[in-house]
Amino acid sequence: MPYQTVKGTYDLLPDTMIRFNMLSDLFRQFLNLYGYGEIKTPVFEFTGVFQKENDTSDMVTKEMYTFSPNGKDSLTLRPEGTAGVIRSFVENKLYGVNELPVKLGYIEEMFRHERPQKGRQRQFTQMGVECIGDKDPLIDAEVIALGYFFIKTIGLQGVKVLINSLGDSESRLGYRKALEDYFGPHKEELCFDCQNRLHKNPLRILDCKIDSGKELVKQAPKMVLSEASAEYFEKVKHYLDVLGIPYEVDDRLVRGLDYYTDTVFEVVSTNEASGSQATIFGGGRYDDLVKEMGGPQISGIGFAIGVERLMILCEAEEIFDIKKTLDCYIINLNDDKDYALAVAEELRNNSFSVEMDYYKRSLKAQFKSSERKNARFVLIIGEDEVRDDVVTVKDTLTKAQETVARNELTDRLDQLMEDYYE
Ligand code: HAM
Repeated sequence: MPYQTVKGTYDLLPDTMIRFNMLSDLFRQFLNLYGYGEIKTPVFEFTGVFQKENDTSDMVTKEMYTFSPNGKDSLTLRPEGTAGVIRSFVENKLYGVNELPVKLGYIEEMFRHERPQKGRQRQFTQMGVECIGDKDPLIDAEVIALGYFFIKTIGLQGVKVLINSLGDSESRLGYRKALEDYFGPHKEELCFDCQNRLHKNPLRILDCKIDSGKELVKQAPKMVLSEASAEYFEKVKHYLDVLGIPYEVDDRLVRGLDYYTDTVFEVVSTNEASGSQATIFGGGRYDDLVKEMGGPQISGIGFAIGVERLMILCEAEEIFDIKKTLDCYIINLNDDKDYALAVAEELRNNSFSVEMDYYKRSLKAQFKSSERKNARFVLIIGEDEVRDDVVTVKDTLTKAQETVARNELTDRLDQLMEDYYE
């Protein structure tokens, strides 16, 4: 085959796009229900938007598609949505013109140079939200609620919410020190990357793909939250209880990106169809990202859902398994196509989806097409119909057939649809 998709990328063909669009439509409804506006940021940004000094995450240090088209600027295809949205929030001074918190949602493609496998691509789509402004446990719970109830509305089974608190900077400083002291004498037992992480960001060792299974890491000390962070976390859990969201506290959940503070969470699937990539979505609070991007000291919280992982689960659970349908298929039995063409356009002007035969094939072949296309009505146009200015309508559900005057056709089709569903 001369040309193929690049490894880790894929085509979304029309049948799959039906499910993709249904998920996108539902997500947009949820954005609306919770007061979020939709935002689109550029696919590529200056590399510095994603890469901060001392960044230790795999995503930033190993997986970014970075290029320099002019040999001067360093640009990067966005590996995630949060950084670009915060760049936009700061650049457009959204905090100055809007009431806080500013609530933004997105459905966008992301790019990471990861090892592809089921549920892990190099180009993938995230549906995400960022709620930027006030820091309040109620907001944390509401953001988790948006994602959780979206997933529940889809109807997925076996969904689990994991939450944890990484604490405020005071708690984290103490924890970093405790981890450095603990891992320091065992440095040689850690992988090459974790040896580097030890002094830059020892928390990262806890979710290292290589080291996290080792007994040394499993026995590592646990985070001790400051009084303020502990109280904050208790309130988040309280509001989740009020909302009726079941959760498990997972004190090993640290998330793969460096900007998180206090609340972090993931929603995982227990359905074996998701394979090793069970995390449907993840997110958390970030106290310092807006400031780091040049804005005021404003906190934010958000999450992103991996759409491809959702699609795998929906397919396994036969959710949104819908075939394309057509309102009318026109069978034309005349050499002259003018009449059929005009009828098709009249119907489309009245919001009926219509396809017609282009080639004057046999009646049988045209009927076959109407079946393949799932047409609700087959409209037959022969010499008699053109002469009498009528159309023969066959209802594929009731199997009834009748002749209808052309100027009454749309009303009659509406009527037949209504009658059927009454
Ligand atoms: P993340 O955990 O890196 O967080 O990604 C969120 C979700 O995107 C994952 O749970 C997964 O479903 C999906 N995902 C990530 N990488 C891939 C991949 N290579 N192939 C397919 N799906 C993938 C973030 O990106 C944060 N920006 C989330 C966030 C928003 N935190 C605060 N606000």
